[in-house]
Formats: sequence, C-alpha cells, structure tokens
Amino acid sequence: MGAGQLGRMTALAAARLGYRCHVFSPEPRSPAAQVAEAAVVASYDDKAALARFADGVDVVTFEFENIPHRSVKLLSDLISTRPRWECLRISQDRLDEKDFVNALGVATARYRRVDDADALASAVESLGHPCVLKTRRMGYDGKGQVLIEDGADPVACWAEMGADAGIVEQFVPFEREISVIVARTADGMTAAYDPVENRHLAHVLDTTIAPAGIDDALRKQALAIAERLVAALELVGLLAIEMFVTRDGRLLVNELAPRPHNSGHWTIDACATSQFEQLVRAVCDLPLGSTERHFDAVMRNLLGTAADDWHAILAEPGARLHLYGKDELRPGRKMGHMTRLYRKDSIGAAAGPADTNTQT
Ligand SMILES: Nc1ncnc2c1ncn2[C@@H]1O[C@H](COP(=O)(O)OP(=O)(O)O)[C@@H](O)[C@H]1O
Ligand SMILES: [Mg+2]
Repeated sequence: MGAGQLGRMTALAAARLGYRCHVFSPEPRSPAAQVAEAAVVASYDDKAALARFADGVDVVTFEFENIPHRSVKLLSDLISTRPRWECLRISQDRLDEKDFVNALGVATARYRRVDDADALASAVESLGHPCVLKTRRMGYDGKGQVLIEDGADPVACWAEMGADAGIVEQFVPFEREISVIVARTADGMTAAYDPVENRHLAHVLDTTIAPAGIDDALRKQALAIAERLVAALELVGLLAIEMFVTRDGRLLVNELAPRPHNSGHWTIDACATSQFEQLVRAVCDLPLGSTERHFDAVMRNLLGTAADDWHAILAEPGARLHLYGKDELRPGRKMGHMTRLYRKDSIGAAAGPADTNTQT
C-alpha cells in the first residue's frame, strides 16, 4: 500500500528474494509501480479495488503513513496485513502516538491536546514559550506546524495551522536528532540498526549520519526504547523511532513510523541487510537478516533540482546514487538520495565528516 520511493525500494528488495510485488496507490506511474509486477490505481477508500488488490497477494504491508487506517483494517479482514492496522492508527495521530509512548514510561516533549484557539492559549500558558503547534493528523515534512513564540496571537496561530484538531508541544532545544529502526517478526524476534543522526533543513530530512556520534550509554538507551515500543505495538515489520537528544543528555521520543524510514536509506549500501529487505523478511515470515554495519555512511536527500547533479555523483568514488523515477520535478520534492561510504568507525564521535551539512 502506497507507491512512493519507500515502496519502490521495498519492491526492489523483494524482487531480489524472488517475490513479485503488487502496489496499491491513487497515483498512476508511481515510483513503486515502475518496478512492480502489477499496480492497482484507485483511491484508498475504494472497497472494490481493495478487495481486488487483496485477491492478488499473499501479504500486505504499507509504506505510507497517511493511508486511512480503516482501509488497512478492511484489508486485514481479507488478507494477512503487517504491521497490524492498529500500529498505523496510533502513529497516524500525534496525540494518540504521544499518549501511547508516555503510557509506556518513555519520555516525549511535554504536550497538550488542543481543539480550538482558547485551548491553545491556555496550553501555551502552561507549557511556556516557545512551543510548536502541530496538526494531529496528516502532517509530514513539517507541514501543518506552527512555531509559537512569546507574544504570538493564539487565534492567528490556530488559523495558520489550518486543521480542527491539534497538539501543542514544548519546543525542545535539542543537541541533535537521532533515529533507530528496528524490525520485528511475528514470533517476536527483533533486530535493530545502529542509531543514526538526522539533520533537517526547513523541517525536511537533509542528511543522515551513520552511526550517530553519541556515547555508548545513550546508544543502549535508544535501542532499549526501540525494543520496548516495537514489542508494545506487537508490530510485525519495521518501526522507526525519531528522538531528540537534549542538551542534558536525555532522550525524548518525537515520532514513530511503522514503515521503512528515510533515515534508513544508508542501510542499502552500508549494511549486510537493508531496511527494505528486512521489512520483506519480517512480513514474509523469513528469518531477519544481520543489521551489521560494514561502512560508516552519510546519506543526503536529493530534493528538487539537487538530483540533476547525478553525473557528478556517479563520478565520485565511494558515492552511491539512488533515483526514484518521479515524473515531475517540484521544488523540495524528494527525487532521490545519495550515500557516501566511509571506512567503518572512521566518522568521529563528536561531529560528522567535514563535508556534511550543519543545520542552520
Ligand atoms: N517539539 C519540537 N522541538 C523542536 N523541534 C521540533 C519539535 N517538533 C518538531 N521539531 C522539528 O521539526 C521536524 C519535523 O517534525 P516532526 O514532528 O518529526 O513531524 P514530521 O516529520 O511528521 O513533519 C523534527 O524532525 C524537528 O527537527
Ligand atoms: Mg518527523
């Protein structure tokens, strides 16, 4: 379900293991459909199309978070659907997601549910400035987020967010952002990749540095949080967990994604098993592969015209290019990514290599 670049790379990994993929998406000629055996092009709530899709496959997984969870629930009455639809429901709603994480005793930024401008005003009063207003649903790449600074007008901020259900959370002046991707099988076996550092530009992931330059204690804590969450969700497939490292060295969970994640693209070129192959293994009841890292890596997203540099990237030794086959180039659109490989353990603990971006 879903047929963007994550679906494309999943289908490619599946093909290597001899599987044929069918994809379901409203978009014709999608990145995944180009490399799949068959594609159903229909709206996500088209029940007849969902039934037709289920008829043609043995197991369903999804690559896109904003597929209506009811459609995935409907599919799960017809065919094995992994992860289970409840994982999608929780991660689709920032409030349910944060409630779920906190109920397990795992910390997030402090937050409040807000349903109108009045509630926003009193929530901001109790949380303090600055804070971030986010839509509860359908947000991605920073869309639907409003930074609220001292003196801001709650009515204007509420209108700017542009949705009727929100969550407001304390702004975390983080030292860095990291993520962990963990796979889990139906019988509860798990395998996690090393935590990586993520640098965003304008709320969109720009660079992932693998491994993250964090100390061993923090690394173990991040992995323990990932294990805890994936077990509590009883998730079969992949779970990505975005976290903030605070300046006093604590971890706060920011977001969950029950699917392959942009911060795991480096695993294609640097690890024994890629995140995409791992997802296929998990949902097809195969043994999980080794998550061992053969190289250190720096992955950079190619947004918009950045992908036009493909000639130079291909000419660079140690650089690996991935293009997604998108028909239309739009500013800021994820057109591809590149991964630079480095000798294992050569990326310093404190900073990335000299050629990585620093966040502005
Ligand atoms: N409470 C916060 N404090 C500081 N930065 C934040 C906060 N929430 C989000 N951000 C920044 O915005 C980025 C995108 O926000 P996120 O909640 O992950 O939404 P999405 O990825 O769905 O757009 C984060 O990776 C982080 O850089
Ligand atoms: Mg995010």
